Amino acid sequence: MDSRLAVELAGIRLRNPVMVCSGTFGSGSEYGDFLDLESLGALVTKSVTLNPRAGNPPPRIWETPSGMLNSIGLENKGVERFIQEDLAHLSALELPVIASVAGSSVEEYVEVAGRLSDSGRASALELNVSCPNVKRGGVEFGLESQAACELVTRVKERCGVPIFVKLSPLVPDMGAMARLLQEAGADGLSLINTVPGMAVDIEGKKPRLGAVTGGLSGPAIHPIAVRSVWTARQQVGIPIIGMGGITDWRSALELIVAGANAVAVGTANFTDPQATIKIIGGMESFVQARGLDRIGELVGSLRV
Ligand code: FUM
Repeated sequence: MDSRLAVELAGIRLRNPVMVCSGTFGSGSEYGDFLDLESLGALVTKSVTLNPRAGNPPPRIWETPSGMLNSIGLENKGVERFIQEDLAHLSALELPVIASVAGSSVEEYVEVAGRLSDSGRASALELNVSCPNVKRGGVEFGLESQAACELVTRVKERCGVPIFVKLSPLVPDMGAMARLLQEAGADGLSLINTVPGMAVDIEGKKPRLGAVTGGLSGPAIHPIAVRSVWTARQQVGIPIIGMGGITDWRSALELIVAGANAVAVGTANFTDPQATIKIIGGMESFVQARGLDRIGELVGSLRV
């Protein structure tokens, strides 16, 4: 393991800046046959809510030429079972775990975040205020800065672990939102969640997804992610985890040069379960070839 890849995010030391996006890696064990989980920088778990959720009607996934539409609808087993079954197993690993939190009210976010924080089994939390696939909650808390900042303040009052906020690319002014969230006490940002979209079966004249609309991920959204990270980085000093359409080490480094301190790989895990390992290898070679002392030298190094 090349120590030049190590990074620190909100006081959490990662052996490298490559993690996996919430919702694309189950609770980790599903990928245990394909890679050594302790090779990752960190793992972000699927969003959990207070009570179990069944999720949206099928079909929930539709592949497009340049990405994937999903409309899972935040299916999860509820926070208590998640802590007992999934976090218990993950916390035995030498791997920072960032637990993703969702809710349909401020009170629910605070309760779920508080239980996860109290469990002592999550290194940090990611507030998912950007899910496009639920009728209540989700993106409702993440498009308007007052609502997002109030949520962060309330969660911070309750929790003892760093709080990252995962934002939608639909945020009207990403720079202003980033600055206000930093002022409200957010420890970091996760940029970006999926882009709302839909696909149509022209023969059946029906939507391809059971919930009609979904969130687009994959290569198509990478330039949107790069712009979002760059825009936010000009306004804030807190760590940014860049994500959206990473396919290889080059697209990962694009986000870092634009201003991300770390990156998260999502859709690429589905086509290649070893995508993260290949990206880490590519970063090692790049750092070596450029004679860098540490990968952090690249963060926000973009010259405009
Ligand atoms: O539908 C879903 O569960 C997706 C969640 C998200 O994009 O945050």
